[in-house]
Amino acid sequence: MFLTAPSPDQLSDRQVHSPIDLSKAIADLKLELNAVVLAHYYQDPDLQDIADYIGDSLGLSQAAADCKADVIVFLGVHFMAETAKILNPNKLVLLPDLDAGCSLADSCPPDRFALFKAAHPDHLVISYINCSAAIKGMSDIICTSANAVAIVNQIPKDQPIIFAPDRNLGRYVSEQTGRDMLLWDGACIVHEIFSERKLVELKLIYPQADIIAHPECEANVLRHADYIGSTTGLLKYVQKSDRQEFIVVTESGVIHQMQKTNPFKKFIPAPPTSNCACNECPYMRLNTLEKVYLAMKNRSPEIILDEQIRQAALKPMQRMLEMSK
Ligand code: 13P
Ligand code: SF4
Repeated sequence: MFLTAPSPDQLSDRQVHSPIDLSKAIADLKLELNAVVLAHYYQDPDLQDIADYIGDSLGLSQAAADCKADVIVFLGVHFMAETAKILNPNKLVLLPDLDAGCSLADSCPPDRFALFKAAHPDHLVISYINCSAAIKGMSDIICTSANAVAIVNQIPKDQPIIFAPDRNLGRYVSEQTGRDMLLWDGACIVHEIFSERKLVELKLIYPQADIIAHPECEANVLRHADYIGSTTGLLKYVQKSDRQEFIVVTESGVIHQMQKTNPFKKFIPAPPTSNCACNECPYMRLNTLEKVYLAMKNRSPEIILDEQIRQAALKPMQRMLEMSK
């Protein structure tokens, strides 16, 4: 990808000196900084293509925990980069756009959650990784969509559980484990927007297609799914399946890797309720190749965390990593 050249007086440290091959410039900066680029499947395809590792939230946490580089460039949203920093306090963790937040993480403000937790002192707190470091610090164990069921299954049956912040994942885990958990009432704007009516209509057009869905979706959508799993789970499923067509009910960025690894299979993104591109996460898509280049060149914006909050958040993260081996 090439940028058009600005006039010399337009150039500043915040601007790209061009013409420039951004992918090549990023590759050079990787070597110069001893950096690793970690990307989530919901990133734009051109960003996935420059990553050293692409994964779901669990895979990305494990990659961050094992990271030997000096710099982590995180292509995802804020809570993900923050998680990398929790695990790597002495590394520089760059997030190309600090505004890349998450509606689900925002739906659980720490002051309100502290009151909720205080009202249920006998409950163990299991939090989905899509939350702030402050919420992680108030939790006993972190989970992701890939390991939530397995983690809840490891908790003694008589132990009451608070599950935060995603009510949809919480309800799905409750159904899978038979555990009656107290759910925080949060949700993801992307996964809530899928239309059950349009999904059923799409299935009539593609009767041979398997419907595959992320557990952050609502129950009325999940009940049509042939397979439910994390983004990595969905990818593995399409790779193993004999089917040739799949209706994909999650952020559409994941289709890039599905198509790359299965060039002859057909992937149909599930439609949102309105005629918008709402199956693209507006936060994830804030990162661009230009911003990645600038972040690496300027060593900024970086994730900075209060040390007390980091240490509190580290314990439940380590518990998750231990319980996921
Ligand atoms: P996973 O990465 O666990 O599949 O979750 C998807 C998601 O919504 C990340 O924000
Ligand atoms: Fe958050 Fe949903 Fe975007 Fe994932 S897809 S980052 S849960 S808003």
